[in-house]
Amino acid sequence: MIPFNKPYLTGKETKYIEEAVASGKISGDGIFTKKCHAFFEEKYGFKKCLLTTSCTDALEMAAILIDIKEGDEVIMPSYTFVSTANAFVLRGAKIVFADSEADTPNMDAGTIESLVTPKTKAIVPVHYAGAACDMDTIMAIANKYNLYVIEDAAQAVDSYYKGKPLGSIGHLSAFSFHETKNIISGEGGMLVINDDRFVKRAEIIREKGTNRSAFFRGEVDKYGWVDIGSSFLPSEIIAAFLYAQLENLDDIQQRRREIWEKYYTALSVLEKGGYIKLPVLNEWATNNAHMFYFLTSDLEERDRLITYLRSNEVFPVFHYLSLHKSPYYKKQYQGNDLPNSDRYSDILLRLPFFYELSAEHQDKIIDLILKFYTDK
Ligand SMILES: Cc1ncc(COP(=O)(O)O)c(C=O)c1O
Repeated sequence: MIPFNKPYLTGKETKYIEEAVASGKISGDGIFTKKCHAFFEEKYGFKKCLLTTSCTDALEMAAILIDIKEGDEVIMPSYTFVSTANAFVLRGAKIVFADSEADTPNMDAGTIESLVTPKTKAIVPVHYAGAACDMDTIMAIANKYNLYVIEDAAQAVDSYYKGKPLGSIGHLSAFSFHETKNIISGEGGMLVINDDRFVKRAEIIREKGTNRSAFFRGEVDKYGWVDIGSSFLPSEIIAAFLYAQLENLDDIQQRRREIWEKYYTALSVLEKGGYIKLPVLNEWATNNAHMFYFLTSDLEERDRLITYLRSNEVFPVFHYLSLHKSPYYKKQYQGNDLPNSDRYSDILLRLPFFYELSAEHQDKIIDLILKFYTDK
């Protein structure tokens, strides 16, 4: 059986967890959390990093930080994970969905300005598959209308837009370290704060609405309830695991790129034959090899291909039902049709992709796909 994902352990995860346990402090913001923060701040120039228990939590913190209130509007792609929207819906926002680009699942920045109203408060670009959205256009619209930009960088670790690390461009950004991502800690995430105005309050919101972080730094003589907040910080056990991964980031990225290139090269013949469409990378984006996907001709073909691969013990997946058509949101959605988003929902297929995918197994997956199309 070739699964879709297999979490990769670099070797030191449990050693570092033992160290964290032996240190006598396993709640949050200990040695390993600080090491992870420093790693990201130094490598990518992020102004301030705060580990969270998930990307979902980081997005929820962002929604609180920009003071989303009942009736505020937030623009984001419909082709995304539920958390992108949920974080803002929880605070009473109305979600205004944008369509995806014709060539990539990223939101079409050219359609955003027409969606801005006096109630718009933020734009949330999602860097799908770790490939950058058109950030210059998005930031220009945000500046023109005085909007916040929150990058959903769940899939975008170690990826760049015109040389700038993803996660460093918006006012705030959210990363995921869920076990399906390049760098993992089981569940896990991080809020990146690029605008100094948010730093103090972010620490408070993450610590249940208290000024506990300032207290531990000796900046106040007692701590108490000063704002709304929740328990968004992960334990040292999670941070220790994550730090072992970060020490091996370059190796992980190199291996993932090899897997990605091999799929791309081997399946190019199907694109040339007009059977499938391979991922397109805009000229401003890098490829962080987060996932390998391709587009089939239609839903029926994708279903048949999935059934065929599964019957041969290979487990691909598809994802994202357009959120504007989701059971939860469709009743309240009043916007336009979003044909590109719906198209990706129907025809995008993700292949098994993980560090330890063997050459033999990858060959098997490729051969099966070639056979599926050429035996038709
Ligand atoms: C685009 C996007 N945003 C947010 C999330 C939520 O991440 P987490 O599982 O860390 O909460 C995901 C998870 O896959 C995602 O793909």
